[in-house]
Amino acid sequence: MEAYYFEIRAVHVAAALASGGFCLMRALALNLLAASWPPSLLARLASYAIDTVLFTAALMLTAVTRQYPFVDTWLTMKVVVMLPLYIFLGYWALRAKAFKLRLAAMAGAIAAFLFIYSIARKHSPLGMFALG
Ligand code: HEM
Repeated sequence: MEAYYFEIRAVHVAAALASGGFCLMRALALNLLAASWPPSLLARLASYAIDTVLFTAALMLTAVTRQYPFVDTWLTMKVVVMLPLYIFLGYWALRAKAFKLRLAAMAGAIAAFLFIYSIARKHSPLGMFALG
């Protein structure tokens, strides 16, 4: 395997967990505790910083492993289909006006994140639903 593959993957996975964990913390604090910090500039900047690390490591991984969206089906499913859906749901979990809509979006975002994670682990577009 190419140089630094394991190091880059470790950074990518750590950033993915930090990104999902922080997004979940913000959504829970906003929706269940009615906290005021989740939409603040500082919280948004922290989330941009984590996601920049996540995405940079992701691009490096595609180069190092020579796996690309639109070429490898699991990456197409992960990046082209599920990632936009996850971002959309995460956005509405924090921004929707109606409380019930924010809760529904939060539940959807959690499910989408878990599915993305399982797609990455299995290298299959079916993720956790793949046989074997
Ligand atoms: C919410 C966003 C993301 C999550 C939760 C996530 C999660 C993961 C995880 C857990 C792995 C390790 C899989 C393993 O153990 O083999 C991984 C690997 C990888 N991810 Fe991501 N990822 C995300 C975003 C992205 C994006 C945006 C891209 C591409 C632009 C990407 C490309 C890759 C590649 C190429 C690998 C290497 C797989 C291999 O070792 O063969 N990821 N991702």
